[in-house]
Amino acid sequence: MQAKVDFIPPMPPRQSGPMGLIPVARVMRRNPVESLAHVNFELTRISGPFLGVTIHTLSGPEEIRAVMLDDVEAWRKSPVTQRILRSALGDAILTAHGDSWKRQRKAMTPAFLKSRILALSGAMDRAGQGLVETFSNATGPLDVSGPLNVATLSVIEAALFPDPGPDFDRAAVRAAIDVVIGSIGEVRFSDLFPLPEWVARPMGPKAFAAMTTLRRAVEVQIARRRELGLEEDMTSLLMADTSMTDRDVRDNLLSLVVAGHETTAITLAWALYLLSKYPSVQARLAEEARAAIASEADPAARLTCLPYTRQVVEETLRLYPPAPMLSRRAIRPSRIAERETGKGDLAIAAFYALHRHHRYWDNPDGFDPDRFAPDRRPADPWVFRPFGGGPRACIGNAFALNEAILVLARVVSELEVRDAGDVPEPVMTITLRPRDGLRLEFAKRD
Ligand code: HEM
Repeated sequence: MQAKVDFIPPMPPRQSGPMGLIPVARVMRRNPVESLAHVNFELTRISGPFLGVTIHTLSGPEEIRAVMLDDVEAWRKSPVTQRILRSALGDAILTAHGDSWKRQRKAMTPAFLKSRILALSGAMDRAGQGLVETFSNATGPLDVSGPLNVATLSVIEAALFPDPGPDFDRAAVRAAIDVVIGSIGEVRFSDLFPLPEWVARPMGPKAFAAMTTLRRAVEVQIARRRELGLEEDMTSLLMADTSMTDRDVRDNLLSLVVAGHETTAITLAWALYLLSKYPSVQARLAEEARAAIASEADPAARLTCLPYTRQVVEETLRLYPPAPMLSRRAIRPSRIAERETGKGDLAIAAFYALHRHHRYWDNPDGFDPDRFAPDRRPADPWVFRPFGGGPRACIGNAFALNEAILVLARVVSELEVRDAGDVPEPVMTITLRPRDGLRLEFAKRD
C-alpha cells in the first residue's frame, strides 16, 4: 500500500551554511537538531572548529560505525552528556566508563534476556488497554503525551517493582520522574562550553527534591526485597549480582526509568500522529492488529503476528529517532573513515540526518512503512540506528520495540486515530518530542 506522497510530516528547519557562535548558541538553546544543515543530509561528515575543539558531525553509516564500534575505546560519551546525567544518575550504566560500565552492563544483562522481556508482554498489552479507556473517554481533541507517559511508566513499574507493597506512592513517584526528566532535558547555555565531565551540572532545588523522593522510593524497594526475599523482577535480578552495591542497584534502576519510559512514549506519540495523517496505513495496521488479537490471546505470542505494525514502528523511529544526536569525545587520536582525528575531538553521531540522508533513502522525509518490508529493508544495518550501536547500544531495544508494537496494536485495533489539526514541532530536549504536546482525536471502531 502506498503512503500519501504529497504530505511531508513536520520537520525542523535546516541551516543553509555554517553558523557563528551566537546563532549556534541560540539554536542549541531553541532546538539542537536545527543546527544540522542541508549538507549533513547530503555528505556523511562535516568537520570544523568550535570554541577551540574540532567537531565532526557524522551522518554516514561508515563514519558512525567508526566511533560507536570500530574504535569504541577511543570515543567516550562526551562531557556534556556526562555532566547532565551524572548529577541525577551517579556513575551507573548510562554514564560509567571502562571496567565500571562493563561490570554494570553485565549485571543488567540477565534482566534483558528475551524470555524476560517476553514475560512483560501482558503488562504491555494492559498499558494499551488503559490507553484505549483514557482515549475513548475523551470528548474532543486530547493531548496524548500525558497518557502515553503514564502507560510506558506502568510497564517499567511492572518490570522493576511488580509488587511494590502498600507504601509505594505511585503518584508521588510519577510526579518526581516528570520533574527529573524535565530538568535533564533542558539544554542550558553553559552546556555549550567544553567543561570537563567532573564539573557537575547543578540541579535546581525542585529537581533535587524530586531526585531525593525517587532515590528514597527505590531504596525502600531494595530494602523490602532484602527483608522479604528476592522475587522474579528486574530489581531482584540486579540485586542477585554480587558485584552490585545497593547504591549501584538504585542508580541503575533510576537509569532504566529515565532511559526507558519517555523514549517509548515519544515513539508512540509520533506513531499515532503519523497514523492520523495516513489513513490507508492505519487501516492496514488496524486489520492486522484485530486479526492478531482475535487469533492470539497471549500477547507474547501475538508479537509474531504483527509484522506490519513493527514496520510502522520502525518507520516512525527512522523519521523521529527519540535520540536524534549523540556525542562522543576522543581520549586519544583515532580515525573516522580513513581520516585521522585528534585527541579531544568531538564526534556527533547525527542519527536524525543519517535516517533522512539522500544517499541512503528514497523520498527520505516521507513516511512509508513498506521500506521496512522483509524484501526492501536496508541491507546495511548501520543506516538505521535508533538504538545506537556497538557495545553501548540500547540494552532495552527489544523491550521498547515489543512495547511499542503491542500498545499500538491494542489502541488501533479498538480506536480510530484522527488528525485534530495539530502540527507538532519536533524539538530536541535530549529526546526528540513534539514541542507543545500532541492533540489527537479518537473514535471507537465498530
Ligand atoms: C524507543 C525507545 C528507546 C530508544 C529510541 C532508545 C535509544 C537508546 C540509545 C540511542 C542508546 C545509546 C546511548 C549512547 O550510546 O550514548 C540507549 C542506551 C540505553 N538504553 Fe535505550 N532506548 C529506548 C528504550 C529503552 C528502554 C525501554 C530501556 C530499558 C527498559 C532502555 C535502556 C537503556 C540503557 C540502560 C542504555 C545504556 C546502555 C549502556 O550504556 O550500556 N532504553 N538507548
